[in-house]
Amino acid sequence: MAKKRTSKARTITKTGTRKNVSTSSRRKGKTLTSNQKLILHLNEALAIENAAVQRLQSRIKQTKIENVKQRLRAHLDDTKRQQDRLKQLISGLGNGQKSVATKDKAQLPIHTLPKSLTNMFGRTMTSAEYELKAAKEDAIVENAEIILYDMLTHLAERMNAANAIAILSESLSEERAMADWIRTNTPDMVAQLWPEIEDSIVTVEGE
Ligand SMILES: [Fe+2]
Repeated sequence: MAKKRTSKARTITKTGTRKNVSTSSRRKGKTLTSNQKLILHLNEALAIENAAVQRLQSRIKQTKIENVKQRLRAHLDDTKRQQDRLKQLISGLGNGQKSVATKDKAQLPIHTLPKSLTNMFGRTMTSAEYELKAAKEDAIVENAEIILYDMLTHLAERMNAANAIAILSESLSEERAMADWIRTNTPDMVAQLWPEIEDSIVTVEGE
């Protein structure tokens, strides 16, 4: 092991550039206090929740499935509480100094289709399939939020921010509950949407 480390160090010294990058990035990482760094990570989560509020509001308007609408409404309330928790943690960690909670929105992790598929989908997809597409996106967003809060709690633990761990864990369990609900509701949702999809299918002899 030790030999491996020595040879790696030699390579870095020889090339020069890698050494500079690693030294400067290490120095860069030390310019924030523990609280300031945690604030930055909390703001990342807040930017995602800010975007999530907007998305949930449009999903509530858009969906025609009543139980989905209700669950999304409940999760919008969760999400607003999550925003408040993050804002309170951010201002608490500021210790009276300026600590700004972001109002900006992050880009949610929603995939875009390649053009070839977008055209085909656009020409052929039923509204039922658009519902399925949106539900898939809901699940992706909620699962991304689980990862976000899970990592944040571990980071807070390392930073000895015990108060933050308890508060972030509440948000984590709400995200898990929402992701679980989407998964368990899927068979019922597909059952509701299937007649419309089935109606749109053309039967070709021999298929
Ligand atoms: Fe969420």
